[in-house]
Amino acid sequence: MKDYLVKDNWRIIEDQYHAEYNQISESIFSIGNGQMGQRANFEESYTGNTLQGNYIGGVYYPDKTRVGWWKNGYPEYFAKVPNACDWIGIRILLDQEEVNLATSDIKNFYRELDMKRGLLTRKVEFLTPKGRHISIESRRFCSMADDEIGAIEYKVKSFNYSGGLALVSSLDFDVKNSNANYDEKFWDEDQQMSSSEAIYVTAKTRKTDFLCTANMNHTLLIKGGKSDYYFDYGNGEKYVEVFISGEIVPDGEWVYHKYVNISSSRNHTNEELQVTALAKSRAAKAQGFKSLLNDHINAWSKIWDTADIVIKDDVTAQQGIRFNIFQLYQTYTGKDSRLNIGPKGFTGEKYGGSTYWDTEAYCLPFYLSTTDESVARNLLIYRHNQLDRAIENAEKLGFSNGAALYPMVTMNGEECHNEWEITFEEIHRNGAIAYAIYDYIKYTGDKDYLASHGAEVLVAIARFWAQRVNFSEAKQQYVILGVTGPNEYENNVNNNWYTNYIASWCMEYAAESLAYIEGNHNEVYGKIISKINFSNSELEKWSDIRSKMYLPKDESRGIFLQQDGFLDKDILPVTDLSMVDVPINQKWSWDRILRSCYIKQADVLQGIYFFVDKFDPKDIRRNYEFYEPLTVHESSLSPCVHSILATKLGMNDKAYEMYLRTSRLDLDDYNNDTEDGCHITSMAGTWLAIVRGFAGMSVEDDRLSFTPRLPQQWAEVSFKTNFRGQLIELIMRKDNNEVKNHSYRPIKVILNKIEIIVEPVAVTI
Ligand code: BGC
Repeated sequence: MKDYLVKDNWRIIEDQYHAEYNQISESIFSIGNGQMGQRANFEESYTGNTLQGNYIGGVYYPDKTRVGWWKNGYPEYFAKVPNACDWIGIRILLDQEEVNLATSDIKNFYRELDMKRGLLTRKVEFLTPKGRHISIESRRFCSMADDEIGAIEYKVKSFNYSGGLALVSSLDFDVKNSNANYDEKFWDEDQQMSSSEAIYVTAKTRKTDFLCTANMNHTLLIKGGKSDYYFDYGNGEKYVEVFISGEIVPDGEWVYHKYVNISSSRNHTNEELQVTALAKSRAAKAQGFKSLLNDHINAWSKIWDTADIVIKDDVTAQQGIRFNIFQLYQTYTGKDSRLNIGPKGFTGEKYGGSTYWDTEAYCLPFYLSTTDESVARNLLIYRHNQLDRAIENAEKLGFSNGAALYPMVTMNGEECHNEWEITFEEIHRNGAIAYAIYDYIKYTGDKDYLASHGAEVLVAIARFWAQRVNFSEAKQQYVILGVTGPNEYENNVNNNWYTNYIASWCMEYAAESLAYIEGNHNEVYGKIISKINFSNSELEKWSDIRSKMYLPKDESRGIFLQQDGFLDKDILPVTDLSMVDVPINQKWSWDRILRSCYIKQADVLQGIYFFVDKFDPKDIRRNYEFYEPLTVHESSLSPCVHSILATKLGMNDKAYEMYLRTSRLDLDDYNNDTEDGCHITSMAGTWLAIVRGFAGMSVEDDRLSFTPRLPQQWAEVSFKTNFRGQLIELIMRKDNNEVKNHSYRPIKVILNKIEIIVEPVAVTI
């Protein structure tokens, strides 16, 4: 755990130079706008510890699969989000001496991420090895108002140095991924220009042919001394630069503004790409830094209006939750249904920017509440658009008749993960995709979605389960063999309770959905049935499987069994582990992990969390008390589920402890891995822990319901939620709770099991 960042309600601040934590800070101070993003690398040269990272949403490279032993069925590639154009480069030359903070004597250092305004600022004052006393002040952002624009304000000041100064401002596509399987580069140059006419470089991803371009424009103002300066243009492979030289005097300052347009053939035709990008980078320069920044701040302010959670008088918690909300919106804004939420967003290479079940299981409710419902719908549409690929994926594995297995990891609908125990066996992900449709409809009431899109996906998923089960003569029940549950510390197990339960539920929900469409959209029903070639005998089959599904249990303990044989293990609580053994995924051999009883993340409890209303509180408690002590929470997705269930069970201290673990996971580098990037998808879990946990928000019979349980450590917490066109605010206090209606119509809300009618608060139009 680290504790080097200053606590502040709206800002993340590093007020001293920590070379040893630079890569962690680069992740934490990342900026993005849903379309592109970048790590908080320094603009100037830096030979210290750094991971260069610029990413463009939806652009990927199919890195050839590398495994020790090839298994039939493995995908050919593992999708990587390529490190894209490094557009921030501004080298500083003082005569021949190049500024490099790693070799300088740092006098003052200040880095700030202003989350309210989405602005990254850095101020540093230092002595170069030649004793030149200089300061740099930079501000930059990826515009939320125009998601193809990034801008930098870069000030260089001299305290004692008089002489030549040059800024070398560049666009560099000649970059690599640190996680490339074969150390190869992912980009080929397409075209470039570096002249007084235009400065740009365009490159194409190898194999996938995404054409991406970076165009820049700039201005320079020299304060003090001679104000003349000269431009020289240079280039290299996939690289362009402009060399701006002049002189600086003590107390003199150069103020440089760089405006960059980053766009890709995902959003423009190849023919218009360059012309549009050039025009937009010129327009950005004409608009100017201040005005662009204003538009950007206004866009953020609209997001914060509905997405913020205010925690009074606890700056540590406040900073934590805002950081999570901020990073989620930097990663995904919902404007584009072809994009999704990579577990590291735009903050690192790991997990390849690809889509996991994390989106459906964790992120969807966040977007459902904090913005327009079209955003969550876009997340569902993403999977709907990939249905054909999911059917192909299942066919490759021997399934037929329109059965779909959604990939564990994907960029374009194809599976691109290659660990057999996950690719082939972690099939529970199919359940989360169906659950997301249910969750969305329950919240929005948009049942029409079933007829327009949902049913096809649900039937294809149900068909998969119906083929994946087999009837055990010995048990006279249906079983599901050879799976990995959410707890990835068990592989190839039989009858993972969570998987069997959700499989059965998927068949039930698909059947109900078809019945709903038949009853309410009869004209569409016929079309769907013939399109997917559906026969009623499938309904009978699903019903038979559901009624005879084997769900392992231990009657004497009154718990569901994570899988067959779980109780044969040595059942020892995590508290018995010595500190030298944890995290077990770094300290123990894989076989030892598999043999142990230790659980990576919620598994049985994940199922109980999803379907909490279907279980008796006593069952929930028994399962929680049995499984939580065996859980090492080595997935960032784990503590939030436990926090929510603990709140439900009135285990307030546990709930708060689990909440803290999720909310500052990256800020405090809890798992020692923030340098790879931030845990974006689990940030939605932090939000869930407050909204579905402490506030107990749910939907009951089409009404919003709250059962607030404010942790005693907090005095007041408030948040807003969009619900069916109305904006509702809950304020939880120690001794009372208040619901405000920021809309125009009264709304019925259930507060602590009592229905109340909330009149609109005065709204100014
Ligand atoms: C978790 C998975 C998750 C993945 C990406 C893994 O460590 O076990 O459940 O989908 O990370 O976040």
